[in-house]
Amino acid sequence: MCGIVGYVGSQVASDHPLDVVLEGLRRLEYRGYDSAGVALVSPDGKLATAKKAGKLANLVEELDLRPLPVSTAAIGHTRWATHGGPTDVNAHPHVAGKLAVIHNGIVENFASLKAGLLAEGVVFLSETDTEVAAQLIARAYEVTGDLTAAMTEVARSLHGTFTLLAVHEDAPDVVVGARHDSPLVVGIGEGENFLGSDVAAFISHTREALELGQDQVVTITPDSVSVTGFDGLPAQARRYTVDWDAAAAEKGGFASFMDKEIHDQPHAVADTLLGRTDARGRLVLDEVRIDESVLRSVDKIVVVACGTAAYAGHVAKYAIEHWCRIPVEVELAHEFRYRDPVVNERTLVVAVSQSGETMDTLMAVRHAREQGAKVLALVNTHGSTIPREADAVLYTHAGPEIAVASTKAFLAQITAAYLLGLYLAQLRGNKFADEVAEILTELRAMPDKIQQVLDRADRVRQTARSMVDTTSVLFLGRHVGFPVAMEGALKLKELAYIHAEGFAAGELKHGPIALIEEGQPVFVIVPSPRGRDSLHSKVVSNIQEIRARGARTLVIAEDGDTDVLPYADEVFYVPQSPTLLAPLLAVVPLQIFACELATAKGLDVDQPRNLAKSVTVE
Ligand code: F6R
Repeated sequence: MCGIVGYVGSQVASDHPLDVVLEGLRRLEYRGYDSAGVALVSPDGKLATAKKAGKLANLVEELDLRPLPVSTAAIGHTRWATHGGPTDVNAHPHVAGKLAVIHNGIVENFASLKAGLLAEGVVFLSETDTEVAAQLIARAYEVTGDLTAAMTEVARSLHGTFTLLAVHEDAPDVVVGARHDSPLVVGIGEGENFLGSDVAAFISHTREALELGQDQVVTITPDSVSVTGFDGLPAQARRYTVDWDAAAAEKGGFASFMDKEIHDQPHAVADTLLGRTDARGRLVLDEVRIDESVLRSVDKIVVVACGTAAYAGHVAKYAIEHWCRIPVEVELAHEFRYRDPVVNERTLVVAVSQSGETMDTLMAVRHAREQGAKVLALVNTHGSTIPREADAVLYTHAGPEIAVASTKAFLAQITAAYLLGLYLAQLRGNKFADEVAEILTELRAMPDKIQQVLDRADRVRQTARSMVDTTSVLFLGRHVGFPVAMEGALKLKELAYIHAEGFAAGELKHGPIALIEEGQPVFVIVPSPRGRDSLHSKVVSNIQEIRARGARTLVIAEDGDTDVLPYADEVFYVPQSPTLLAPLLAVVPLQIFACELATAKGLDVDQPRNLAKSVTVE
C-alpha cells in the first residue's frame, strides 16, 4: 500500500536524482497506483513538487511538460488512497511551508490533531491525514531547526501506522524518514543513499541495505545514514545484502509481470527447496530457530494469513495433519486477531505472507505472541516486518513478486509449508519420519512437472480467449483441490473482474448446485485416480451431476485419467504426482486462464483495479 522512495546524492551515472526516484516508483507502483508525486529541493533552496492522479505515467507526462530543477535530494510516492479520494490535490507529497512530506499508512488520530490545527488557523488543502503530519512536522521544525528532531517529535505523537519521509528547503541534501508498523528500508550507496518501501526501489543501484527496526527515524545524506529511536537515542539497524538482482524485478521479455511470474514458478519452487537437506537426505532447517523440544511438544498449529497466502495455508493443513498428526487450523489473520482464539505455549502459529508486511497478518502475529504461542513466519521478502517480529522465519525463495496478484509466491509458500510439515514429522519421529527423504525426492521432481504444465498451456489460453464474454465461472475441488478451486476463483475475480466462486465439491449438493444452468462454466479439479480411490470417483460423480444440469465442464485431471473424458467439455491434463503435492500443478492452468482472459479483455493484469500489493493497513 503506497510506495515510497527517497534519494540523496549528487549524481548516479548520468541520472538526475529525480530519475532515480521515478525509476524507484516504477518498481514500486504495484503497491498502489491511484496517484503519484515527487518533491525535491532545488539548488537555490526552493521546494518543487509535482503530483498527478492516476498511474505513474500521468506524473511522468506532467514532468515532461513542466520539468523540475536538478537537485541532490528527492522523494517520491505512489498512492493507494485511504483518506481522501484519488485526486491531484490528495496525491502526495503534501507541502507545509518549506517542507514536503509523503506517507504510507493511516494516522488514526489525525482528526483530533487536525481539529487542534484548524483551531489555530491552519488551512488545509487536502482531505488527507498526511497533510496533518506535514503541518505538525513543519511547526516542530520552526521550534527545533532540525528536521530529524522535528520528525521524531511528531512521530511520537501519531497513532496508527506510518512511514513518513520529509525534505525541507533548509536542508537540500537531507531526507528524513520515520516508521511505525509500516515498511521502510535503506539502500546504501557510495556518495548516495536511498530509502524505499522495499528494496525494489533501489535494487538497480545497490544491493547493500539496512533493515530498520520498529519506531525508528533515519536521516540520510549523500555520505551518511544515521538511525535513532523515537526516544531520540542512537539505534541499531541490521545491514544485509539483497540476494535479488535488478533483472529479477524486470519483465524479461514477457508481456506482463504476471506472465513472467507464472513462468518463474519452476524456479520459485526449486529455489525454495534448495540447500535445505543434508547429504543423507534429511531436512535441515537451521533458520527455524525455535527450540526442538518446543517443536516436539506443539499440540496445535494455527496458520494465519490473508488471501492467496491463506489458501497456501489450507494446502498446508492437509499435508501437515497427514504427515505430523498435529491438528492444524487455518484462519484469516483479521478474523483470528479480533476474536478470542485459544492459543498458548504449546501452539505453533505459522504466519504466511509474501510481502511480510500485511498488517492483518502482523497483528495476528503480535496477538499470538502475547498469548505465549511461538510464531514461525513463512515469508518471501527479506527486511520485512513479520519475520522481525516472529520467533523464527522460513524464507520462501520466489524472488521479487511485482504483479499485484500472487502466483509464484503461492507455489513457494506451499513448498515451504511442505518443508515445515516434513521437518516436524522428522523431528517428532512419527511414522512418516522414514519417508521424508522419499517425499522430498517427489517434491524435487515438481519444478520439472510445473514446467510441463507451462509448456502445455496453449489450450488453456485458447479456451480463455474464447470466454471473454463470460460473466460467471465456478470452481470445484475436493481435499487439496478445494483450496486450489478457491485460488482459481480469486485469480479470476481480481484479474478479469468476473464473478467467480470456489466450492468444496462435496458441498455442491448442499446449495451451490442451484447455480448450475445451461452453459455455466465450471472448472473441476480432479484428484489422482491413483490416490484414495473414493475421492477420485466422488469428484467424477460431481462432474456428471453438473453436466447433467447443463454445466460446461472444464476439467483439470492427471495424465492418464480417462474416467473424466465422457463428462468433460475440456480436459487440461497435468503430470502425475502424489495427491498432497498436486496443488503445485493443478493451480497453474487456472492462473494462466485468469491471466489470458483478463488480457483478452484488455485489462491490466499487473495492476488490477482497486487493489494494491502489500496491504499495510487493517
Ligand atoms: C491475491 C493476493 C492477495 C495476497 C494477500 C496477502 O492474488 O495477492 O490475496 O495473497 O493480500 O498478502 P501477503 O502474502 O503479502 O501477506
